[in-house]
Amino acid sequence: MTGVQASDGHTVSYSQTTLTELMIPAYANFGGKIHGGTLLSLMDKVAYVCASKHAGNYCVTVSVDNVHFLAPVEVGDLVSLMASVNYVGSSSIVVGIKVVAENVQTATVKHTNTSYFTMVAKSDGSEKAVVPPLILESVEHIRRFAGALRRRRLRRYMTERMDEYKKDFVVDEETRAFLANERCVIRLEN
Ligand SMILES: CC(C)(COP(=O)(O)OP(=O)(O)OC[C@H]1O[C@@H](n2cnc3c(N)ncnc32)[C@H](O)[C@@H]1OP(=O)(O)O)[C@@H](O)C(=O)NCCC(=O)NCCS
Repeated sequence: MTGVQASDGHTVSYSQTTLTELMIPAYANFGGKIHGGTLLSLMDKVAYVCASKHAGNYCVTVSVDNVHFLAPVEVGDLVSLMASVNYVGSSSIVVGIKVVAENVQTATVKHTNTSYFTMVAKSDGSEKAVVPPLILESVEHIRRFAGALRRRRLRRYMTERMDEYKKDFVVDEETRAFLANERCVIRLEN
């Protein structure tokens, strides 16, 4: 690993970033609503800005947690993506992003989703880089940091369980019972 920062860390506000974009017709799907992929792309962009500012290095996206679009976004809405660093590990940074869509004519604002992007800092040589610590200055900052650490541990636990499940998978009586009330038809050749 390279790029160890001699820094005492950065505050959350140091890298806090808001991106606002007008939803134009080119972003819409056949139903006239904004593509989820358009929002994901904007989220990736704001996550990058926020993470790279904190890291002082360029960053790559590693994983995305909690993408649930709670309300549709319309053409003409002003979408604002508010990003802040929630957690830092050794080379990873978790950026929490709250997305809201505003209808300027009716002055209504709806919360469309809150998601968490994990980014990893890279040095010029493309090796992982150590990121500066995060200075937590409020109860909310501490809650978000601890929450991200819990999500990280839960993800590791789930990955291990799913790996075991895949490795040991057989279609036995237990599997058939598990799927008994699902909308599937098992048709095995033998
Ligand atoms: C991200 C990447 C550098 C990880 O490399 P690696 O050698 O497996 O590194 P590690 O296992 O040490 O993980 C590095 C960090 O990422 C975190 N990480 C790795 N996989 C993760 C995952 N699926 N979800 C969340 N965090 C993850 C690790 O916890 C670690 O965090 P820490 O340094 O704060 O402890 C590597 O997989 C990569 O370059 N991926 C491609 C990323 C990319 O190009 N994204 C753009 C979209 S294509």
